[in-house]
This record gives sequence, structure tokens and C-alpha cells, in this order.
Amino acid sequence: MQEDHPAKSLAPVDDYPRSDLESGGNKPKVLRKEEKSSKCLVYMLAIMVIQGSVLLVFASIFLRPRTPCFDIGSVTVRNLKYENNSSSPSFNFTLVTQVIVENTNFFGDFRFENSNGTVGCGSEIVGQMKMPKGRTQARATERMNVSIDVSSLRLSDTKKLSSNISSGLLELNSYVKLSGKVNILNIVRRRRNPELNCFMTLNFTGKAIQGLKCY
Ligand SMILES: *[C@@H]1O[C@H](CO)[C@@H](O)[C@H](O)[C@H]1NC(C)=O
Ligand SMILES: *[C@@H]1O[C@H](CO)[C@@H](O)[C@H](O)[C@H]1NC(C)=O
Ligand SMILES: *[C@@H]1O[C@H](CO)[C@@H](O)[C@H](O)[C@H]1NC(C)=O
Ligand SMILES: *[C@@H]1O[C@H](CO)[C@@H](O)[C@H](O)[C@H]1NC(C)=O
Ligand SMILES: *[C@@H]1O[C@H](CO)[C@@H](O)[C@H](O)[C@H]1NC(C)=O
Ligand SMILES: *[C@@H]1O[C@H](CO)[C@@H](O)[C@H](O)[C@H]1NC(C)=O
Ligand SMILES: *[C@@H]1O[C@H](CO)[C@@H](O)[C@H](O)[C@H]1NC(C)=O
Repeated sequence: MQEDHPAKSLAPVDDYPRSDLESGGNKPKVLRKEEKSSKCLVYMLAIMVIQGSVLLVFASIFLRPRTPCFDIGSVTVRNLKYENNSSSPSFNFTLVTQVIVENTNFFGDFRFENSNGTVGCGSEIVGQMKMPKGRTQARATERMNVSIDVSSLRLSDTKKLSSNISSGLLELNSYVKLSGKVNILNIVRRRRNPELNCFMTLNFTGKAIQGLKCY
């Protein structure tokens, strides 16, 4: 009996620590699970943030509508006629320009409408340029021949014109603005209006354009 008592008394003593140990062992396990799930959440959030920023970078590189480059490749002079004469100075010629539209968008084509440009002599307009409508595919370059009839008919200052013709050189400028739309995978559609400003000099005796500069 004396052996039983201590055993019985020991048993509950043994039990309590066991249950204590068990509860003590369980509590950290629950905490670890919470820690794990919160860590999981943090990882998921981090992955989402990384994915989001990767998407943003991707979108800003590939889906940002860029304005296509607009340039003139070459200009040739055709049918040049001029009157090198102080009483009635005049000139007529046709400029044949190779217009280049370079679409730098990765996934978007560029469609542009018919547009008008001008060729000027000083502040006066001597020629109208008619750009036909067109389409440039993504990462492609479109080349078009556009001819412009230029005439001195609209110039008012014959004295200045006379001196310019007799000098053999005539400074010309031209301005064109394309109105078009960049359409990226039917997601992003933006109006883009590339402009072209050029300066050049007509050489009467050489029947050619020299010093072409575009901005
Ligand atoms: C240029 O054209 C106008 C009108 O067509 C004409 O009156 C003029 O004589 C022409 N000038 C020359 C040099 O051919
Ligand atoms: C100058 O113009 C007048 C009148 O248009 C013409 O009669 C004359 O032949 C011209 N002179 C030259 C050198 O072209
Ligand atoms: C271009 O000019 C012509 C007349 O010169 C006009 O009929 C046409 O509407 C103009 N086009 C644009 C796009 O402005
Ligand atoms: C443009 O003109 C050049 C020569 O002047 C020619 O080789 C080319 O085929 C022309 N392009 C078009 C689209 O007409
Ligand atoms: C115009 O005439 C003047 C004098 O006759 C001459 O010196 C000049 O070279 C001529 N210019 C052109 C472009 O023919
Ligand atoms: C015409 O000649 C004058 C000098 O005689 C020059 O200042 C002017 O820029 C010239 N204009 C053009 C359109 O070439
Ligand atoms: C105009 O062109 C002719 C022939 O190409 C050349 O000899 C002359 O030097 C040119 N004039 C100028 C001012 O560049």
C-alpha cells in the first residue's frame, strides 16, 4: 500500500508534467504553424509584387506607345525651269522626296491619315505636300515617294527672288505633321503625331538639293 501511494501520488505528478509538456509542446507547434502561414503570405505577397513589377516593366517597355520616327531619305529635283531675269523672275520644279516612317513599337502598328505638308521659301509657302494615308507595321519601316510641285507664283517679292535666283541658291524649308494612331495589340490605342521639319538649299545650276537637314 505504501508502495502504491507514492506510485499513485507519483502518477498524477507524472501526469501533470506530461500534460504540461503536451500543452507546452502544442503551443509552440500552433505558433510555428501561424509563423509558417504568415511567412507563406509574405512570400506570396512578395511574389505578387515581383510579378507586378515585372509586368509593369514589361508593359512600360512593350506596351508604351512610342511616337514613330519620321524622316526624309532623299530629295531629288525634277523638271526645274527658272527665269533668271530681273523683269520676271520665276521658278518651277518638282521635288520627289522619299519619306520614311519608322515604327519603333514592338507590338503596335501605326496608321496615319492623309496629311498636308508645306514647302516654304522664307515665310512664304511655295509648295503643298500631300502625304497619302498608310500603315507601318510594328518594328517596320515604310518608305514612300511623295512628289511636291513647287512654284514661285505665290512669292510676292520679285526683287529678292531675282537676287536669290541669280545667286544660284534658294533656301527652302518644309514642314509635315502626320496624324495617326498607334494600336498595340488592341489594348492601347494612342494618337501619335510625328512631325518633320527640314531645311535644304536648291542649287539652280546643279538642279539638285544640297544640305538637307531634318529635325
Ligand atoms: C512657272 O509656272 C508658271 C505657271 O504655271 C508660269 O507662269 C511660269 O512661266 C513658269 N516659269 C518657268 C520658268 O517655266
Ligand atoms: C528675261 O525675261 C524677258 C521677259 O520675260 C524675256 O524676254 C527675256 O528673254 C528674258 N531673258 C533671259 C536672259 O532669260
Ligand atoms: C489638304 O489640303 C487639301 C486642299 O489643298 C484639302 O482639301 C484637304 O482636306 C487637306 N487635308 C488635310 C488632311 O488637311
Ligand atoms: C520610289 O522611288 C525610287 C526611285 O526614285 C524607286 O526605286 C522606288 O521603287 C519608289 N518607291 C515606290 C514605293 O514607288
Ligand atoms: C543668273 O544670271 C546671272 C547674270 O546673268 C549669272 O551670273 C548667274 O549665274 C545666273 N544664275 C543662274 C542660277 O543661272
Ligand atoms: C535670298 O537672298 C538673300 C540675300 O540676298 C538671303 O538673305 C535670303 O536668305 C535668300 N532667301 C532664300 C529663300 O534663299
Ligand atoms: C551647285 O552645283 C554645281 C554643280 O553640281 C556645283 O558646281 C556648285 O558648286 C554648286 N553650288 C554651290 C554653291 O554649292
